[in-house]
Amino acid sequence: MPPPLRHRRIPTHNQTGWASNQLNEISERFVAHCRSVALPVLDIGAAFGIATLAALETGATVIANDLEASHLSHIAHSATPDQARRLILIPGRFPRHLKLAESSLSAVHASNVLHFLTGPQLEQGFASIAHWLGPGGRLFIQASTPWQQPFKDFVPVFQSRRKEGAEWPGWLEDTKEYSTHRKLGQIPQSIHLLDDITLRKKVEAAGLQVDEAYLYRRRDLPASLFLDGRECAAIIATKL
Ligand SMILES: C[S@@+](CC[C@H](N)C(=O)[O-])C[C@H]1O[C@@H](n2cnc3c(N)ncnc32)[C@H](O)[C@@H]1O
Repeated sequence: MPPPLRHRRIPTHNQTGWASNQLNEISERFVAHCRSVALPVLDIGAAFGIATLAALETGATVIANDLEASHLSHIAHSATPDQARRLILIPGRFPRHLKLAESSLSAVHASNVLHFLTGPQLEQGFASIAHWLGPGGRLFIQASTPWQQPFKDFVPVFQSRRKEGAEWPGWLEDTKEYSTHRKLGQIPQSIHLLDDITLRKKVEAAGLQVDEAYLYRRRDLPASLFLDGRECAAIIATKL
């Protein structure tokens, strides 16, 4: 038996955080769903392909999208010849640069990418996903919340915004205002910390049925981000 994979974070080439070399719990659910799909699946913010390559292993046709073309080249080099025939690479910014046909997908996966989008981009993105998914198609989201150690000073702001009914309480215009984390340079200046309540509302508004929405600590979260067990938000939804 091969030795267990050592957990490693791989810095993205475009300062959008780190990609994991281990599937998180939500990516694993996406891959399990891929075993029984009829249509292609989409991996948004695929980075170096941790979920894309696992989905290809199930036999699915996978569309891998990423803002950074060099990340997608890495996936192309890692795919076997059989997988390469079922791999479609689309570089560009979701949702603006992704044009797919109505009801053309069996699943959409977005892990650790939606916190790089503004509120209006997320709204547009969820509407696009609802349009692209065929009946029974599923959406799998893993996102970062404000309950992470580097952003703990932002939590009271987030909570008071949420109490006042803010539409997007987790938008953080300038991370330096609330955090002195030494690796802030590896993420954009503005980020959008998300939570189960906000995501559920917006995914439902796009017309999808939310099956699961919860906060948790993903298994590959670096210990330096641990706060109180609510570091991540998960959403699983279905197009009826
Ligand atoms: C932190 S990595 C996450 C990688 C992987 N999905 C995972 O779960 O480990 C974020 C990736 O999303 C990409 N990205 C950021 N904003 C994007 C957008 N609007 N559209 C497409 N890709 C985006 C980045 O280039 C980067 O590769």
